[in-house]
Amino acid sequence: MPRKIEFKTAGSPTVLQAVAFDRPRLGPGEVWLEHAAIGVNYLDVTQRSGAIPIPLPGGLGLEAAGVVAEIGEGVENVKVGDRVVYALGPIGAYADARVYPAERLIKLPDDLSFADAAAVFFKGLTAQYLIKSTYPVTRGTTILLYGAAGALGQILAGWANSIGARVIGVVSSSESIERARKAGSAEVLIWNDELPRAVHDLTGRGVDVVYDGVGKMTFAASLDSLRPRGTMVSIGASSGAPDPVSPGLLNAKGSLFLTRPGLAAHIGDIDEYRERAADLFAAVSLASITPRIWKSYPLADVASAHADIESRRAQGAIVLATR
Ligand SMILES: NC(=O)c1ccc[n+]([C@@H]2O[C@H](COP(=O)([O-])OP(=O)(O)OC[C@H]3O[C@@H](n4cnc5c(N)ncnc54)[C@H](OP(=O)(O)O)[C@@H]3O)[C@@H](O)[C@H]2O)c1
Repeated sequence: MPRKIEFKTAGSPTVLQAVAFDRPRLGPGEVWLEHAAIGVNYLDVTQRSGAIPIPLPGGLGLEAAGVVAEIGEGVENVKVGDRVVYALGPIGAYADARVYPAERLIKLPDDLSFADAAAVFFKGLTAQYLIKSTYPVTRGTTILLYGAAGALGQILAGWANSIGARVIGVVSSSESIERARKAGSAEVLIWNDELPRAVHDLTGRGVDVVYDGVGKMTFAASLDSLRPRGTMVSIGASSGAPDPVSPGLLNAKGSLFLTRPGLAAHIGDIDEYRERAADLFAAVSLASITPRIWKSYPLADVASAHADIESRRAQGAIVLATR
């Protein structure tokens, strides 16, 4: 019998429990997908903890790679035996196998392993839209990137670096400096109250764009690190949600642009989803992105994966293996 991870109430990682379930019948347009590797994302942790509420009891997980084992009526874009990957809902990727809408499956390149795909798909699509759509990064663009040694930061820094951008990474401790550098940050700063001054010393006038996943603690310093008419991209809230901002503040700080984007609005449209995935796979094939797995856990040990991320022990992407 396949197993899936379920939880009844939000809380610590131990609320996550593996339960066996019967294989359901497929509806039109659906496939039965046998997972080989599942990606663990920061968003999963916030949904489990209750910081971002989801309907409960229920499952968790927004990304996996595997093999199509059965197709429902009307499915034409994939066939039994295809190697595929997906990102986003319906929630429930933490499972040996699941029912999933066929049209949201993307075929995997032959030379990309399931584990590497699960390490890079959700985070790589995020990096893709952040550097291609939110702010069109080109040769010479200066970027300030928080979490530069984290799972998303490593991918974004490497990709932006391959385009010719100058990435200034921010980390919270000296242990992360080398990892951030290896991933593509040309310069690495340790977070402190003097960060904007250090950024202006390095750049002369401030950076073109800030990608800030830390949130409350760093928001003001991020605005102060931008050049006039620079773009502040608030991508997460690891330290809590930023305080409300008055439009007048953006004027006073130099006519800044502010956005709070998410992946769903960038891959909701199927054609756009496929284009972004193709661009991501091309970047992997050109080695602009190197999939790096920091740790792999068995599916049933998902609580350890969440504890690693929550305690900030994680040093990169974590995947769950089903077999
Ligand atoms: N908007 C989107 O579309 C989108 C998509 C994916 C991810 N995200 C966001 O991007 C951020 C990074 O995700 P990830 O997958 O790279 O996670 P990750 O691998 O856990 O890395 C997060 C990094 O943020 C820093 N960090 C964690 N907790 C912190 C805290 N309380 N205060 C200050 N710094 C903290 C750590 O940096 P140090 O090494 O310096 O300690 C860590 O390396 C998260 O906020 C996530 O929600 C947004």
